[in-house]
Amino acid sequence: MQDQYVRIFDTTLRDGEQSPGASLTSNEKLMIARALARMNVDVIEAGFPAASPDDLAAVKKIAMEVGNPQPGQGHKVPIICGLARASQKDIDAAWEAVQHAQKARIHTFLATSPIHMKYKLKMEPQAVLQRVEEMVSYARSLCTDIEFSPEDAGRSEAKFLYQVLEVAIKAGATTLNIPDTVGYTIPEEFGALIAGIRKNVTGIDGVILSVHCHDDLGLATANTIAGIQAGARQAEVTINGIGERAGNTSHEEVVMALNTRRQVFDLETGIDTTQLTRISRLVSTLTGIPVQPNKAIVGANAFAHEAGIHQDGMLKHQETYEIMRPDMVGEVQSRLVLGKHSGRHAFKKNMETLGFELNESDLEQAFERFKNLADNKKNITEADLEAIISDQIYQPLEVFRLEGLQVSCGTMGMPTATVRLRDINGKEYINAALGTGPVDAVFTAINQVVKVTNTLLEYNVNSITEGIDAMGHVSVRLQAENGSTLKRQSPQNNQLSQRTFGGHGVDTDIIVASAKAFLSGLNKILVASGKHDPAQSKENNQPVKDYYEKFAV
Ligand code: KIV
Ligand code: ZN
Repeated sequence: MQDQYVRIFDTTLRDGEQSPGASLTSNEKLMIARALARMNVDVIEAGFPAASPDDLAAVKKIAMEVGNPQPGQGHKVPIICGLARASQKDIDAAWEAVQHAQKARIHTFLATSPIHMKYKLKMEPQAVLQRVEEMVSYARSLCTDIEFSPEDAGRSEAKFLYQVLEVAIKAGATTLNIPDTVGYTIPEEFGALIAGIRKNVTGIDGVILSVHCHDDLGLATANTIAGIQAGARQAEVTINGIGERAGNTSHEEVVMALNTRRQVFDLETGIDTTQLTRISRLVSTLTGIPVQPNKAIVGANAFAHEAGIHQDGMLKHQETYEIMRPDMVGEVQSRLVLGKHSGRHAFKKNMETLGFELNESDLEQAFERFKNLADNKKNITEADLEAIISDQIYQPLEVFRLEGLQVSCGTMGMPTATVRLRDINGKEYINAALGTGPVDAVFTAINQVVKVTNTLLEYNVNSITEGIDAMGHVSVRLQAENGSTLKRQSPQNNQLSQRTFGGHGVDTDIIVASAKAFLSGLNKILVASGKHDPAQSKENNQPVKDYYEKFAV
């Protein structure tokens, strides 16, 4: 009899972070890892340590902190997993990073589809079998919890796949993950693939069978559910479904499907679903990847009812048009919480209810921002408070800070911006520039001071709540200069790729929010390049030094 528990393996920080433009700093990764742990995720795939020294250092930090019990912690300690190609060097890097966790896992993979073996690996099937045997055994000699993935399993030949999986089990794998790497399969096929594996692979009952789907045909969640129905007991997912190309299976969709249709599936996960909306916003803010408004579960319109007939039905009985209640996923967007006259105590209490444990100085700073906002905005909602915090706390080290901004624009003259910035050493810079519009003028004025070569790939403005007095949230994506420290290796194709960085800013004035977002992206590039933050510079960073000595290509 199979157990009824589906393990949630979250790979937002690894496969999700491979999305174009999703580069996160190690502090941001730590914040997301903490939020995933609070939500009771079973396994956090924290990164691909062989990709770069920064990736290794970030996974290590997560393993040390999130992978061990903390005082007063109310959730279980998750397994911390690191990805490795089937090579000793990668496996060593993964182990180097995850070994600090109370429960560590190495996840190694090798492609098994004819097209990948022939053109990418240039390996014969026999050599693939041998490599799987050697590398899974090697990983198992270091760590007791080993996951193996036959990459592109969705397009692999079933009989060969069974052979590979048997070899991996014999070599010591404890979880076998079946990826539909290119999102090619349809639910019936993928379910049959999992059922076939359960029927034909010797030893399969002694390991956990896992599914990992990509969304190229928009079928990732459906395929994952089909795999679970066929007997998989681990689902690999990402928050907001971010990931390579069209993305991975969405965490919130799988969890809420299993939860809402419990009578059909008779399965459970350990996830605290009331945290789904908040973590979705956190991931979107930090990666700079917006969530589409009609995204299931966490999109801004997921619980909005526009049509009159729907609104009428809702007023008569909520379940006429709502299969889940918004509070089940923590959707509290419009709840009014505070106003102009609310004091420090009420503010602190609301922060605590939202799950933010702020130290005295952060609390004081957030309270001041709240008071400024309350002068301009009548009703402050939970979404506003979250935005204030995300703008204050979820920001990189401020190598440059915006102190003042003035723009002139319109049809009567050239758009002009003057900015006043202060750098980390206290030096003040005042600069003015022209542009094609106010945002261009502001970005040009900032660029001339900060002097980091970058390309603006994306610029988005969203309003946080409704109404003319709403705060604007701006997110940008920047491609960094060509510096080698800003490149990293992709696990799948060995290539060094240029990193892109997201930045975000919040203000009732969207030009100010734009300037903050742009500076936030530039500050991330500066921190990642190790040029401005002593704690992150190559000279002073021991994990980075160790990495170069041991693993650098
Ligand atoms: O999609 C994929 O095949 C992967 C593997 C590394 C599991 O992400
Ligand atoms: Zn993947």
